[in-house]
Amino acid sequence: MYSLSRRDSRKGETERNWYNAVENTFFRVTGVPTTPKVFGKVTADGHFCLSLVQIKKTIGLTRWDLRGKPLNGILGGSILEGKVAIITGGSRGMGECTARHFAKHGAQVIIADVLDDLGQAVAQDIGPSAQYVHCDISNESEMSNLVDTAIAQHGKLDIMFNNAGILDKPMKPNIVDNEKSTFEHVLSINTVGTFLATKHAARVMIPQRGGCIINTGSCVSVLGGLSSHAYVCSKFAVVGLVKNAAVELGKHGIRVNCISPHIIRTDLVKGFLDLDDEGIEKYYKHFGGKVLKSQDIADAALYLASDDAGYVSGHHLVVDGGYTIGNYDYGIF
Ligand SMILES: NC(=O)c1ccc[n+]([C@@H]2O[C@H](COP(=O)([O-])OP(=O)(O)OC[C@H]3O[C@@H](n4cnc5c(N)ncnc54)[C@H](O)[C@@H]3O)[C@@H](O)[C@H]2O)c1
Repeated sequence: MYSLSRRDSRKGETERNWYNAVENTFFRVTGVPTTPKVFGKVTADGHFCLSLVQIKKTIGLTRWDLRGKPLNGILGGSILEGKVAIITGGSRGMGECTARHFAKHGAQVIIADVLDDLGQAVAQDIGPSAQYVHCDISNESEMSNLVDTAIAQHGKLDIMFNNAGILDKPMKPNIVDNEKSTFEHVLSINTVGTFLATKHAARVMIPQRGGCIINTGSCVSVLGGLSSHAYVCSKFAVVGLVKNAAVELGKHGIRVNCISPHIIRTDLVKGFLDLDDEGIEKYYKHFGGKVLKSQDIADAALYLASDDAGYVSGHHLVVDGGYTIGNYDYGIF
């Protein structure tokens, strides 16, 4: 639902007048021969609300313009309409948030994770536009099955958001204390798992001549000294994979990009550094204390997944409020 601002409310007026208010104030409607009725409702505080579905049903339009912008981008509900998305690590954290966000914007989402109970509950909560599939991303046959499930059920795969990842805890700051098995385990999920997901997404996207792959790096993909050796190596590698895959797959119309978040207090980082409610605040000083949220990552993913990013490929989108591009210790500014 989109609520017009109070300034533009037309409380108590006729539907015809409401429509005119909408048309004249906000929307330029293309291809409408006569002025149709738009059904909406006035909320308790006097705002006129309408849904895109209602508008489409009433007017029978598939394309609207709002001062040159697609209406669906303004109203919400259909930026990803008709698209099929897999989100790995979607049972909680940023993956869950993005799954909800994509579904809200019209996508059919397949949540893939190893936390089955959580993932199923999230899918159920989202509703018919979501389903859960168990998949350990480091297991190639499970990854293959995940992608095949999308094809079997929806006939295509438009978006592969490779978000699942782990962090070795507790952090062992001395490299001498770091074990090879732990190092390999982190890489087997963060790097090898992301490689497998990119590979199998490409397998089905090449014949369909298009698709969008989004991999997940981190601030640690560009700056040393922020995490364990294993985690940093695994996330640096993801950026390399994105660039190489973008170069290879561009000719097939497939876009490959990377989102790299700054620290967010999800389950992943709880128990890592001093990340209680107060301890976390110091990580956002460079950005006026504004706390980074999973929703910020979901918004970034929505952009990269949407047709608005149709010519964006090989891009490393670091979502950190500028943390990794400056040396704040100098205190010049
Ligand atoms: N939280 C941060 O500060 C931060 C910062 C930068 C990057 N990241 C990255 O963002 C991504 C999401 O992290 P989050 O903070 O939401 O963490 P999270 O732990 O809340 O969520 C990660 C999800 O991935 C799933 N997962 C782990 N291993 C898996 C496997 N082998 N197969 C399938 N699913 C698996 C987990 O079960 C979990 O549901 C990760 O790749 C992480 O490295 C996180």
